[in-house]
Parts: sequence; structure tokens; C-alpha cells
Amino acid sequence: MGSKKTIFTLNLNGYAPEITDLTYPLIEAYARKIGAGIHTITERKFPEWPLTYEKLQIFELAQQMKNDWNIYIDSDTLVHPDTPDLTAMLPRDTVGHFWSDFAPVRWRSDRFFQRDGRNIGSGNWLAVASDLCVDLWRPLDDLTPKEAVANIFPTVAEQRSAVVERSHLIDDYVLSRNIAKFGLKFKRIKELFDEAGFEKGGYFFYHHYLFNTAQKVAELKKAIRTWGIYEIMGYDFERTPVDVAEGITGWMSRPELEWLYEKAKGMKDVVAIGNFMGRSTYTLCAATGNGGGPTMGMVYAVDPFVFSGDWKNYVNPSLGLQEGDDFSGEFLKNVGHFPNLVTIKKKSVDAADDPVIPGKVEMVFIDGDHGKEAFLADLETWAPRTTKLLCGHDFTDPMYPGVKEALYEFYGKDRVKQGPDSIWYIQ
Ligand SMILES: C[S@@+](CC[C@H](N)C(=O)[O-])C[C@H]1O[C@@H](n2cnc3c(N)ncnc32)[C@H](O)[C@@H]1O
Repeated sequence: MGSKKTIFTLNLNGYAPEITDLTYPLIEAYARKIGAGIHTITERKFPEWPLTYEKLQIFELAQQMKNDWNIYIDSDTLVHPDTPDLTAMLPRDTVGHFWSDFAPVRWRSDRFFQRDGRNIGSGNWLAVASDLCVDLWRPLDDLTPKEAVANIFPTVAEQRSAVVERSHLIDDYVLSRNIAKFGLKFKRIKELFDEAGFEKGGYFFYHHYLFNTAQKVAELKKAIRTWGIYEIMGYDFERTPVDVAEGITGWMSRPELEWLYEKAKGMKDVVAIGNFMGRSTYTLCAATGNGGGPTMGMVYAVDPFVFSGDWKNYVNPSLGLQEGDDFSGEFLKNVGHFPNLVTIKKKSVDAADDPVIPGKVEMVFIDGDHGKEAFLADLETWAPRTTKLLCGHDFTDPMYPGVKEALYEFYGKDRVKQGPDSIWYIQ
């Protein structure tokens, strides 16, 4: 016999549709996957209490609905499509939150907390409890709203956020107290994921409560892109150049691309050595392009565009490239539309005297031949021509120790700086 599961959310006064447009499709998909219904709490039943206290409606609702399992998810939470059914992982006699903190940090202790002794502080943006444990959401019967709120002491981070009000922590307070009062067994869901062997706790949820709405929207979009679910979930919010670049085959990570984008902004001319399918090139062209306006900067993409050399062993075979293939067509499909792109089909040292590249350029990004000698030759050729920023990739890649060795030899250790992940740049 299947069990009856309900996912609850709280949405009073039409809570931020710009957030729920992002989060609800995933919550709905999760509900479908685990065979749960969704119940959104939209009406106030406890008007004398702060808004978040309305989550405690679950105590009555869960019983009326005869649910075997109840899952509460805050409306600003992203649920990854791969998230496993939490009700299959948590014992029925145990309640779960994604994480918990130390109760007396934020709550004035009382006899329940002291007798219980575990001092579990709820982070109840995610809460899971079976029918055995609905007391998790039992409304208070021994404190007035004023007395309850007086027991709450927001952390410094919460106070500084200017987003979380003391009274808004009432739900976390009551759930923490109920865990203590009823001696509910408790498990952190992140630890369930760890125990199940998911790397770093699974990354199945994204939730950040100290951001304002605009920040949340930006961060949620970022998480959606990082999770790679933009297309499969049918999102249609506008994508940033880094999002698009991330969709192009290559090796540079998102933090590296973001770094490159920020650094290239406003540069008048950039030489990009080693472009492959255009992942870094896209980022550079978008950052300097200024929509083709009068302040448009130029990107000189230097690469023989021939599939050859040791790097080809790290290319996904599914691309079907064979030794000697010319892949400039793929490159141009990805970036050929940029009006500020100049493609130079040459090795970097041969491109050095190409008349199309100015004698001095503001920025040079090197990600070409990573052999020590060839890379040193690139430094010798391009460093004297760079006026603002010389940088490149694979500083820490164990496959290419020559990059770091050459940089230290050429510049000395102190002048070589590391950016995000494997980025190097010269101070
Ligand atoms: C690691 S890939 C570059 C990846 C690229 N930056 C990206 O974001 O995907 C190395 C590229 O360097 C190119 N390359 C190899 N030797 C080169 C050289 N001597 N001069 C210029 N490019 C070279 C290869 O053709 C290849 O496209």
C-alpha cells in the first residue's frame, strides 16, 4: 500500500511571484516524482501571531488529510530534480530538517530544552515528519505571542541582514521547542545524504534566508544555471553571457568565466590564445563588445583550430573529433556572430607578427599550448605587449605542471597571483 504524502508550502498575500516562478516548478516536479500532493497555505488562521506561525496549520491539516508523511518546503527553496524521496530515507519515528543549529544561541532556554538536553535549533525551511511526529507543528498552548517572541534572539548575521525580523523566527522557535518538548527523534537530512554516499551532502536544495527578494532572485537563477536545469525545466528568464558561455564545451569553470568576464569589461583589445570551441572567447567577446557600441573592444582569437596536441586527450570523444580535424567551424558557430571578434588561425608565436593585432594590447589571456617551452615562448612574446592584464588558465592543473614552473621562472613567485580555481594572472 502506498503512503499518503503531502508537500506543504506557505504563500500568504501572493508572496514574491518572481521567486515562486523559479521555485514552484521544481517543487511541483518533486511532488510528482515522489507521489505527493501539494498543499499551499494561503490563509491566515493565527492572525494574532507573526506570519510564519501559519506553518503550524500543518498540525491540523496533516491530521485532517490523514497524511502518512508531511514535508514542508519554504517557497523560496530550490529543489533539485534528482532529490531522492526523503520519506524513503527518514525513519517514521524521526523528524528531519536539512540542518539544525544550537538552540540556545537564538532561543532563551526553558525546562523543555533543558530536560531534552540536545539543544536542537530548527532550520525549518525544510521539515519532514510522518503522522507519528506531527507534534513537530503543534501550536503553542502555554505562551502568548508576546512571551514567545521575547524568547527569540536573532543572531548578529540575522540582525545585520535587515531581512529577518525577530518575530519572523517564531516558526523556528516553536519547532525547536516542540522537538524538545515532545522528545522527537531528530535527524539532519544533509547527514542522511552524506550517509547515503552523495558527495558533499548532495546539493539537492538551495535555500538562503538572509537575502532580500532581488538578491534571492539573482542567486536562485544562478543556482538553476549551475545545476544545468535551465532547458530541461523550461525556464525562460534571460541568460547572462556567462550562462551561455557555460553551455559551450570547454574546461573553464563558472567562477573562472565570471572572473574573466569582469576583468575583460572595458578592455579596448584582448588577445585570446587557445580558444577551442569558444567558451572563454564568448565570455571575452561579450564582456568587451558593449553591444557593438562605440566603446566596443576587440578580441583577437588566436588558435590553429586543428585537433592535435596533448590537450586533445581531454576532449570528450562524443564530439567525434579526429587527429588533424579543423574545428574552426564549430568555434564560429558559437562565437562567429560577435562583431568584435577577429579570428586568427595561427599558432600564437606565428600570430605575433600578424599586422591585424595592434603592437600593444590591454589584455592577453593564454590557454594554448601548455607545454613548458611553448608556454614560456608565449610569455616572452606576449608579456611585453600587454599593457593592463596578462592572465591565463591551468595554473593548478597537475597535467600541466609546466605552466606554473614557467610563470615562476619568468616572473618570480611573488608576482604570479592565483584567481578563482585554475586562473593565474600577473600583478
Ligand atoms: C585547453 S584548449 C582552450 C580552451 C578554451 N580557452 C576554452 O575556454 O574552452 C587549448 C586550445 O589551444 C589551442 N592551441 C594549442 N596550441 C596552440 C598554440 N601554439 N597557439 C594557439 N593556440 C594553441 C588548441 O587548438 C585548443 O583550441
